[in-house]
Amino acid sequence: MATATKKKKAAGSAKKAPARTSKRAAAYTPPKKFPISFRVNGSEVRAEAPAHTSLLYLLRDLGFTEVKNGCEAGDCGACTVLLDGVAVNACCVLGVQAEGREITTVKGIGTVENLHPIQKKFIELGAIQCGFCTPGMIVAAYELLEKKPRPSREEIKAGIAGNLCRCTGYVKIIDAIEAAAGEMASSKGRKS
Ligand code: FES
Ligand code: FES
Repeated sequence: MATATKKKKAAGSAKKAPARTSKRAAAYTPPKKFPISFRVNGSEVRAEAPAHTSLLYLLRDLGFTEVKNGCEAGDCGACTVLLDGVAVNACCVLGVQAEGREITTVKGIGTVENLHPIQKKFIELGAIQCGFCTPGMIVAAYELLEKKPRPSREEIKAGIAGNLCRCTGYVKIIDAIEAAAGEMASSKGRKS
């Protein structure tokens, strides 16, 4: 009974509560959206976003969820993509800065049907555990091997220094990048 009375009272007082929407809500103007055209993994993309939206949010909202959201502060590297060939943390770039530019995510590096040697070696050598860091790690490794096709282990460590992995202890990741570099070099040698 007591509960019922209390409930009644609560319901009654809720009815009388003054409306809180008022001026603030009425004064809210949604942020202006800007049109943005860019390319992702070779395909044309058109979007609209407020000026403060990060490239990470923009890409994920467009369905590129392979770009992972770890820290949103430039610390973990999970969101690494290539912006005109340069590895960046998508959480630290504004979406509007992508205008007219080419973005490459891990899916642009290789596909399930046609894996890039880096992706293949990550799988073969057990460099993936939970997999959360993997997309960003592979993009960072790709940029490294583009610049330095046969890096030393120290150079590999420096190349992935901005990418954190909480599972693997890094050794297998470094092994995989080193092995991928070897495979890429020998397949280049075969072609030439
Ligand atoms: S989510 Fe961008 S660096 Fe962590
Ligand atoms: S495999 Fe889990 S964070 Fe790297």
